[in-house]
Amino acid sequence: MTARILDGVAIATEIRAEIAKEVSTLIAGGHRPPGLAVVIVGEDPASQVYVKSKGQACIEAGMHSETVRLPADSSEAQLLAVVDRLNADPVIDGFLVQLPLPKHIDSEKVLNRISPAKDVDGFHPVNVGKVLVGDPTAFKPATPYGCQQMLVRSGIETKGAHAVIVGRSNIVGKPMASLLIQDSRGGNATVTVCHSRSRDLPSLTRQGDILVVAIGRPNFITAPMVKPGAVVIDVGINRVIDPAHSKGYRIVGDVEFGAVSEVASAITPVPGGVGKMTIAMLLSNTLQAAKTGMSVGR
Ligand code: GUN
Repeated sequence: MTARILDGVAIATEIRAEIAKEVSTLIAGGHRPPGLAVVIVGEDPASQVYVKSKGQACIEAGMHSETVRLPADSSEAQLLAVVDRLNADPVIDGFLVQLPLPKHIDSEKVLNRISPAKDVDGFHPVNVGKVLVGDPTAFKPATPYGCQQMLVRSGIETKGAHAVIVGRSNIVGKPMASLLIQDSRGGNATVTVCHSRSRDLPSLTRQGDILVVAIGRPNFITAPMVKPGAVVIDVGINRVIDPAHSKGYRIVGDVEFGAVSEVASAITPVPGGVGKMTIAMLLSNTLQAAKTGMSVGR
């Protein structure tokens, strides 16, 4: 079997076009453009790339974009002051603080300071809880939300399927489980969450009709770990050294793509899979924040 490729670029482009259309309708109706701010502390190269892409995507969707750059040695108090300012800024509907933060800053304290109404990353405990209880006003974290949209928009049935998630991070694994167990479209799955302490991981991953992998280790999932006919969603973005590439590295996922493609029925490539969806869903959350703000007169 050679797996169908789930094209994240195409699906993300479709979603971004839908968002841009809604944004232009809002603006034509006299509303200001939805505004997204991104805060970055330090010079982490991968974070710089993500933050630039988020800003560009925002502009392309017709939204207002702001990037706040702080030096790596900024204090926690300085970052919290930026968060407070953005919480109060009337032209910013949503914002996020790019992770990881420098070690001397308490990430949890910073995330908890973001107003839940502007928390378009969905990392504030209020939104984490809302996602878990299925509250429709929740901001769903962009990466797992993007994975779910890929399944839904590719016509892959989650209802009754056994979804096995590899990785228990707060950004992907845990919220992915929350979304897939809901009694709603793209949910109703039976969910297993595996992690670094799980015993006999291959016996668990082989049970997955849907296998979502977010472990952050290049080519970690091999063909014998995958159930024949499974749908494989690879969230990994890993740099591996490759002197043959002009940059000296190339990007690979957490799944051994070539061999697993021969076993799975559908698979997301890396790059060109989940990565593109994350930004599309961030824009979707920003639009949701703007519309909610309008409805409460913000
Ligand atoms: N770092 C990696 N992924 C993310 C994300 O989705 N949001 C933020 N804020 N930081 C990240």
